[in-house]
Amino acid sequence: MNLKHKPFLKDAWYVTGWSAEFSNEKPKAQRIIGEPLVLFRRKDGTLVAMADRCVHRQAPLSMGRIEGDDIRCMYHGLRFNTDGQCVEIPGQDKIPTRACIKTYPVAEKGSWVWVWMGNPDNADTNLIPPVRGFDDPNWVLKSGQLDYQSPHHLINDNLLDLSHLAYVHADSFGATAGWSSRPPQTKLLERGVQVDRWVEGAPPVPPLPSLAQYQSVDLWVTYQFLVPGVFIMYTAMYPSGTAEVSEHSEPDQRLPKLFSNFTSQAATPMEQDSSRTFFTWGPGAEFDSIEIPAEAVAQQMIDVATVAFAEDKDIIEAQWKNLTVDSSQPMMPTAADKSVTLYQRIEERLLQAEISGSETVTSEPIPTEDIINIEQMNDELTGS
Ligand code: FES
Ligand SMILES: [Fe+2]
Repeated sequence: MNLKHKPFLKDAWYVTGWSAEFSNEKPKAQRIIGEPLVLFRRKDGTLVAMADRCVHRQAPLSMGRIEGDDIRCMYHGLRFNTDGQCVEIPGQDKIPTRACIKTYPVAEKGSWVWVWMGNPDNADTNLIPPVRGFDDPNWVLKSGQLDYQSPHHLINDNLLDLSHLAYVHADSFGATAGWSSRPPQTKLLERGVQVDRWVEGAPPVPPLPSLAQYQSVDLWVTYQFLVPGVFIMYTAMYPSGTAEVSEHSEPDQRLPKLFSNFTSQAATPMEQDSSRTFFTWGPGAEFDSIEIPAEAVAQQMIDVATVAFAEDKDIIEAQWKNLTVDSSQPMMPTAADKSVTLYQRIEERLLQAEISGSETVTSEPIPTEDIINIEQMNDELTGS
């Protein structure tokens, strides 16, 4: 499908920024799936999201002024309450009920602000992906964000298939061929996929003094990728040989770890061909020490991640240029694309359910005809 026209899920929570960005002082313009939004806080701190378009002459409300809990358009002065209803038209007594601006369900979780772009009746906050925020005592996190001139579908593909690490991030993350040599276990989730793998013989990154005695380590890496494009990954580092001892399955929780880290990343489409990613990364709080403060490690990790994401941006934007020149050529899936293909099927299924208005998605197995490792995948999907 031509990504210039590929539809986006609407019944989903999209990240639109960091909690600290929004205030009761100044409205802020945001854009999600091509829709202009304005966000601000009420006096009690709760968030408001509404269409960034005045009903009068369509001027952006983000150029307006917050007055109490209301927002005033600073073109001709119409004032709107947080339900989007116009409550004042200068020089006019009667206010038509149709003078009302669309509002969007908005929530805060994990230090991020989430907006539901679809039917407000379906906006269940339990569907916000289980990201970790700055308030989580188990992790010490730093954050960043990056804009891409490319469709968010390509960023999703990138995050779903980490076999690119050994090639795109050999310098930044020090990623080795271990990331692509052994296929991961991919599981189907209701709104995404889970991918688990061992990476054996990896260099210890970040190169902490406490890891200096290790030439190489084994990494247990498990991530969920959930609609509309949220990546949540846990990595635990063990001495070499642990993958073997664990029979390449989930390690026993009692095994002592050398290090662990957690990242949450969200790719939000702003327009059809432009996207913004938001990310946090950092070490487990249990690895905090006077010699190596976790805050400093988190900073080191987010600095490396920032370099790595610039590498992703380079290859994805170049890929998008190729696709823009000629979108007629089909993509050829490989074994590493299993999670990509599976996720795309789930996304498509949710989209169809949204379009047809059905409450639940079909439980029929996802067709697998164009996927490498068909048998293995069928076994997983049907539980046989
Ligand atoms: S465009 Fe908003 S008041 Fe006229
Ligand atoms: Fe990457």
